Amino acid sequence: MLTTLTHRDLLRQQNFIDQQWRDSRRDSRRDSRRDSGRDSNARFEVTDPSTGKVIAHVPDSDAADARDATDAAAAAFPEWSRRTARERAQLIKRWHALILAHDQDLARIISAEQGKPLYESLGEVRYGASYVEWFAEEATRICGDVIAEAVPGRKMIVLKEPVGVVAAITPWNFPLAMIARKIAPALAAGCTVVCKPAEDTPLTALALVYLAEQAGLPPGVLNIVTASRAQTPAVVDAWLADSRVRKITFTGSTPVGKHLARESAGTLKKLSLELGGNAPFIVFDDADLDAAVEGLMAAKFRNGGQTCVCPNRVYVQAGVHDVFVGKLAKRVAALRVGPASEETSQIGPMINARAVAKIDRHVRDALEKGAHVVVGGERVRTEDGPHYYAPTVLTRATPAMALAGEETFGPVAPIFCFKHEDEVIRDANDTPFGLAAYFYSNDVRRIWRVAQALETGIVGINEGALASEAAPFGGVKESGYGREGSRHGLDDYMHTKYLCQGQLN
Ligand code: SIN
Repeated sequence: MLTTLTHRDLLRQQNFIDQQWRDSRRDSRRDSRRDSGRDSNARFEVTDPSTGKVIAHVPDSDAADARDATDAAAAAFPEWSRRTARERAQLIKRWHALILAHDQDLARIISAEQGKPLYESLGEVRYGASYVEWFAEEATRICGDVIAEAVPGRKMIVLKEPVGVVAAITPWNFPLAMIARKIAPALAAGCTVVCKPAEDTPLTALALVYLAEQAGLPPGVLNIVTASRAQTPAVVDAWLADSRVRKITFTGSTPVGKHLARESAGTLKKLSLELGGNAPFIVFDDADLDAAVEGLMAAKFRNGGQTCVCPNRVYVQAGVHDVFVGKLAKRVAALRVGPASEETSQIGPMINARAVAKIDRHVRDALEKGAHVVVGGERVRTEDGPHYYAPTVLTRATPAMALAGEETFGPVAPIFCFKHEDEVIRDANDTPFGLAAYFYSNDVRRIWRVAQALETGIVGINEGALASEAAPFGGVKESGYGREGSRHGLDDYMHTKYLCQGQLN
């Protein structure tokens, strides 16, 4: 798919630090040791999950590269943060225009390294770009407060200031949108950025940074280093230990989020953590069942089920259980699985072998504990590659199954049958996670009761597509804290300064 890029310069395979595209410092250190017969190439492979083939090599960076990036970002901060909001907004808007102008190529890069069908990748480019545009506009609306005089001759004023250097660590499931919605508000607030994309999907992030460079961002304002799974701790630990990095923004697993929270305590960094979920999707007897099936299809099978807000447990009230399962099964059985490059594909490959193994483990465990397969339940298209899993519907799911407690992150919809509202609220909340929840009902009193009782940061009511640049995205409990999108998403990159001026009378 990368061979069809119109602008091949988008395919970057180097770090970007202080306005220079360069290899890891490990490369030159190893070069000097070549005579001693040691390995000379500090790069790692990027593969296409649709085929398993290697499509690029990018730097396998270490702590020295991370520090170079921080040096550049720290040096750029004073000048960038003092620019007017309008100047920052104009640059971010230029970046937004370039993203849209390259949407087809960016979509091809996303599909090549992440595996989602091309139309979904194009949707992701537009989705990510919407955050860039939103925060460009929000930059010009940053404002503080003037507090009514409490003491004669004394003025109290509240300013909003950028926190400083931000480290953004991003996931593979939305390689463009997740990094865009971290970098854009950071830049809008006046922060400078160092970032590290997921090892599975560095190419989209590098292309995005390249477009920011083309938009005219000044040197050092935005820096990116790539690293393999093995080298990532070296890069991240360098940022955790560095007191110049004032904020970490991370999307990924809860164990890693907890590690970042613990290890950043030494320098008390501000944190935004968008972590794992275990979303319940509840269908009450009084729901519009066709709308509920539609909502579940959108929420469950987007990106092959590889989203943090993906419904992980589907609760259906006993009175409508069989009808709902029948309607859902028909839709799921019709989904077409295939490589991102095939126009007819609706479900691409899973990201890697670990991901497919987890999905299969959850399905096997459920079957051993009494679940019934209505559709799917196995690996498919094994001749195309090892990462394809059939869209699956299971009934007779119970809390004892692994898929009830862990995020499956794949195209599996387990149906739990329930009788009473109280019972389903208790079960839906019986998880340490609290990112998203969904429910379908036409009873206005129930809607308010249930929306308030669900312990999550996001609730979909008769709606399966929740995310928007204008809305605050984020969780409660062990799904993390901080918000992305909306004015709250900008606030997370600023601190509040109180000025008190006396002797004015
Ligand atoms: C995620 O999966 O982390 C983000 C999903 C979204 O933005 O809708």
